[in-house]
Amino acid sequence: MSMQKYKVPREIDHGKDGAIFQIAQGIIAKICWGNTVTQKEADIAAKAYEKGISIPIPYGIQPITFPDKKMCGLYANRTFNGFVMEKVEGKTGIQLRNPDEKAKAHILLDREIKKAFREGFIPRDARHPENYILTPNNEIKLFDFAYWTYDPKYPYKIHY
Ligand SMILES: Nc1ncnc2c1ncn2[C@@H]1O[C@H](COP(=O)(O)OP(=O)(O)O)[C@@H](O)[C@H]1O
Ligand SMILES: [Mg+2]
Repeated sequence: MSMQKYKVPREIDHGKDGAIFQIAQGIIAKICWGNTVTQKEADIAAKAYEKGISIPIPYGIQPITFPDKKMCGLYANRTFNGFVMEKVEGKTGIQLRNPDEKAKAHILLDREIKKAFREGFIPRDARHPENYILTPNNEIKLFDFAYWTYDPKYPYKIHY
């Protein structure tokens, strides 16, 4: 994993639980307001990736240090635990406009959510249009595991 491209983490997006920083070419780190959420997300993502659910490649937790620069604002000169993962290219559910594209995304989304239930996850919030991306080669990638849970003893049987 190459880290030389972005010396200063650059904020590219944020949601309600954290902010997303580009830390290298094709690599982002999610920094949450609570470190327990970060650890939980990294653990769930590692498990989901291992089980073959379509998510960004997870690289675990790494300390992300922000330089003492004005542009870093509140983050300047501080270090945070970041959940590091592949940056997925494509459109989030919010950015999908074309009805065919939307329909395709929903079919893929349903399939991935069912797979997650079958493997013992409860993928809460996965249908939120800010929590998935349709890639240019028509794959769906789920992310934002803050509200997911995992219990391998109780795979859920889906009958719909
Ligand atoms: N792996 C990723 N690749 C590309 N964009 C991402 C990735 N993870 C998150 N994002 C972008 O950042 C936004 C916020 O991330 P998310 O994990 O949903 O944070 P929150 O828990 O705060 O909602 C997403 O809506 C998405 O646009
Ligand atoms: Mg989100």
